[in-house]
Amino acid sequence: MPLVPMRQILDEAAKGGYGVGAFNVNNMEQIQAIMQAANDTNSPVIIQASRGALKYSKMIYLKKLMEAAAEEFPQIPVSMHLDHGNSLESCKEAIALGFTSVMMDGSLASDGKTPNTYEQNVDITRQVVEYAHPLGVTVEGELGCLGGIEDGHGAGLTADEVDEHLTDPAQTEDFVAKTGLDALAVAIGTSHGAYKSGRKDPKTGEMLPPTLAMDRVHEIHKRLPNCHMVMHGSSSVPKELVDIINQYGGSMPNTFGIAVDQIQDGIKHGVRKVNVDTDSRLAITGAIRKVFMESPEKFDPRDYLKPAREAAYDVYVARMNAFGQAGHAGDYTAITLEDAKSFYK
Ligand code: G3H
Ligand code: 13P
Ligand code: ZN
Repeated sequence: MPLVPMRQILDEAAKGGYGVGAFNVNNMEQIQAIMQAANDTNSPVIIQASRGALKYSKMIYLKKLMEAAAEEFPQIPVSMHLDHGNSLESCKEAIALGFTSVMMDGSLASDGKTPNTYEQNVDITRQVVEYAHPLGVTVEGELGCLGGIEDGHGAGLTADEVDEHLTDPAQTEDFVAKTGLDALAVAIGTSHGAYKSGRKDPKTGEMLPPTLAMDRVHEIHKRLPNCHMVMHGSSSVPKELVDIINQYGGSMPNTFGIAVDQIQDGIKHGVRKVNVDTDSRLAITGAIRKVFMESPEKFDPRDYLKPAREAAYDVYVARMNAFGQAGHAGDYTAITLEDAKSFYK
């Protein structure tokens, strides 16, 4: 099966009432683990690369690895998606590489940090749609800004500022109509990384779980029942994965991610794409640390990359089952970018 336009995966997910995990990758082991998990659970899947991932892998390597993934598992619908494109140029670059879907994150300026105005966001997102759709390529846009608590991703907003930058449901119809996008990323209080809450318990000083504005997802779904929403920052940061890291010499303070039942509530109300990166990073790091601590004499990278790949696989299988995509790979015949061109006409 060739790499499929993400729009088809999302349309089918809407028909079936499930969500699809969009997993970030930087290397071969993650791609292999995702595809093995998709194969074993019979799931359609979205593999995404950030601009950082493309730079790390010198672009061509990730492209070829994703193509290999589609070739190895021809029965699995898989999209190759650019995560957080920051300009028309970065989206064009990904499309030229063969990506079947791009995100134009116009919620932020091209520095990836400064919030754009609404008009700037509409303008740049529409430009990307005008470029991508005639080529059959799917476009995701974002309205509102995610929190970026600790890692420099996103606007780096404080907990209070995050509240001011949540997606305003009243703007969504206009944004979708003016841009013509295929998928809408919403800011509802999630943030990237392992530390998702800027709030601490005043008595204990312990980190508190992030509070999500799920009511906004419900409201957007009422206003735009056919709009495919995207939840970024959706790692659950499972305590057992953080514990493994800490048990084997790591140092990660107590933290919380996004509870799977909140994501499932989103999926009931129009969320079709669920972005997960951090959980895979945690699983991989814990597995590698374990080998290093338990077998300090080992020096063959396969001795720790194999358990790392297996640990990531377990995360992907769990998420594919939880989001409901499991069992749906064979529901439809995948279309090509060529087919998608006529869809947009
Ligand atoms: O957008 C955030 C993703 O987790 C990608 O992170 O830019 O470090 O590759 P990255
Ligand atoms: P996490 O950091 O929660 O995994 O989010 C990833 C993401 O949203 C990528 O765009
Ligand atoms: Zn994101």
